[in-house]
Amino acid sequence: MNLEKFFEKSWIDYIKVTPSAKKILDLLESEGEIIKNDHIALRTFSHPKVHLELFSEYFISQGYLKKDKYLFPDKKLTAFHFEHQANPELPKIFVSELDLSSFNENYQTLIDRLIEKVPEKATFVELYELGNPWAGDLTYKEYEFLKNESEYAAWLAGMGFRANHFTVSLNHLKKYNSVEKVNALLKENGFSLNEAGGAIKGSPDTFLEQSSTMADRLKIPFSDGLFEVSTCYYEFALRYKLKDGKYFQGFVAQSAGKIFESTDLKD
Ligand code: NI
Repeated sequence: MNLEKFFEKSWIDYIKVTPSAKKILDLLESEGEIIKNDHIALRTFSHPKVHLELFSEYFISQGYLKKDKYLFPDKKLTAFHFEHQANPELPKIFVSELDLSSFNENYQTLIDRLIEKVPEKATFVELYELGNPWAGDLTYKEYEFLKNESEYAAWLAGMGFRANHFTVSLNHLKKYNSVEKVNALLKENGFSLNEAGGAIKGSPDTFLEQSSTMADRLKIPFSDGLFEVSTCYYEFALRYKLKDGKYFQGFVAQSAGKIFESTDLKD
């Protein structure tokens, strides 16, 4: 799978479970905007069959460079972002990994059982083509058990390997070129925003401002029936120039920590 196919598959899989993202894209395009993607985010477990290193190998083989590391101790997550070396216009990739060693035995046993469904020595591409290797193998109660300790683990168990979000680059918009303006447009059109820590995450001081919708909701198959879960959300990012005159290309852990909560519906 080359990068073109990777992004194409990611987008198709994403809008299938996130119809609101397609509606927002259409809305911005109807306002004359041309949408450019700042980054996409992927999630995984620290298990050796699916860990971040597997993702890293693929993106490096496709010309990406592994850049900064981010730690989210309260969410038990580690992340890296990747930038394409030859073509900085390609979206950045943000990959996070849940540290399974920091959960109790019952929790790890359940996740191990799901990961048993992943073929031995599967590559990232094989994993990504499978999407959700353990689809339908989980009861809704087990999903809730996962969710009680980690919303992230539950999301990954329910949704599998897919883009968790796409991100509109506000630097490339003409009219909606600030987080305030795009948030106002979304609210006017009935979309709900992630308000955790305020609707705007970051500031010019951190060189990155972001906002996001709350994830869509969809019924997915569990082994005991169809139940509604949070799927994916759409993010908006405005980057500021560093002192050297170049746009900041990294991420801000404090803001990203709040953005993770876009799939966390407190119900
Ligand atoms: Ni993001």
